[in-house]
Amino acid sequence: MTKRIFSGAQPTGNVHLGNYLGALKNWVALQHEYESFFCIVNLHALTIAQDPALLIEKTRDLARIYLAVGIDPQVSTIFIQSDVHEHAELTWVLNCVARMSELERMTQYKDKARKQQENISVGLFDYPVLMASDILLYQTDLVPVGDDQRQHLELTRDIAIRFNRDYGETFKAPDAFIPKVGARIMSLSDPAKKMSKSDDDPNGCVLLMDDADTVQKKFKRAVTDSGTEIRFDVSRPAINNLLEIYHLMTGKTPQAVENHFAGKGYAQLKGDLAESTVEFLRPIQQRVREINDERLDEILDQGREKARQIARATLERVFHLTGLKR
Ligand code: TRP
Repeated sequence: MTKRIFSGAQPTGNVHLGNYLGALKNWVALQHEYESFFCIVNLHALTIAQDPALLIEKTRDLARIYLAVGIDPQVSTIFIQSDVHEHAELTWVLNCVARMSELERMTQYKDKARKQQENISVGLFDYPVLMASDILLYQTDLVPVGDDQRQHLELTRDIAIRFNRDYGETFKAPDAFIPKVGARIMSLSDPAKKMSKSDDDPNGCVLLMDDADTVQKKFKRAVTDSGTEIRFDVSRPAINNLLEIYHLMTGKTPQAVENHFAGKGYAQLKGDLAESTVEFLRPIQQRVREINDERLDEILDQGREKARQIARATLERVFHLTGLKR
């Protein structure tokens, strides 16, 4: 039987090149091999303060991006988390299975809590249980995620196994599916850090929806290393990162990339990089604009129905086994 994958992204802020190359691109490839569910996890977004009108927009924007980068709604199920009530309902039951001590150990929570310090919501603490519910509702085999989500995946497995032991076989214990050579794109302003939308310097991060001028400006300001040679070299992380992006934007082999820049200077590198990135983004941006509201609603309605059917079956069993429903 075809294995099932489930993944999701939060509709917080703008999708950037690092998100695309590190995650979305991978999903697009995987959808043809696996039965795929791609969720827009807006309940997770509520764990930190959001502007309601903006959240609605960002949620729909992210759905458009999923489609524009090539997730095919005929092949994959695309849906909004809050459209399938079972996610919140299962979270409550699993809250009664997960342990405080387990959640207290979550490094992502500890990092976020340290940064925020005041008014940390219970939701932020509970974030991993909601994520476990996302995954377990669909009897997921594999979860394509970044390395930073490994601990959440292990918790998901532990919760599944504990529930099965205490109440009876219900959930499949999923495996993380972390690409071994997943593209890790670094910030243009600090190549020691991952490209991130929460970067202190907005110039460090190229957004999928950036216009040509902005892309040019960001690459122009990108930091470089000392020396002049343009070749892949991990000891010169800034140039290495720019070459990696060029390689991914053009599809040229690393050798071809080095040949292309042999004897050329940093200005040329940045100019060519900006140009190929603009070219790369053009059709994606075009497709984002082409997806009208009606078509989007249709796709999300269809995704919701497909997701709900599976989620409902799992939740019914959970309610039955826990004594919530006969
Ligand atoms: N926590 C994930 C992230 O930040 C997002 C997420 C929520 C997710 N639910 C999920 C990922 C279920 C995979 C499966 O990347």
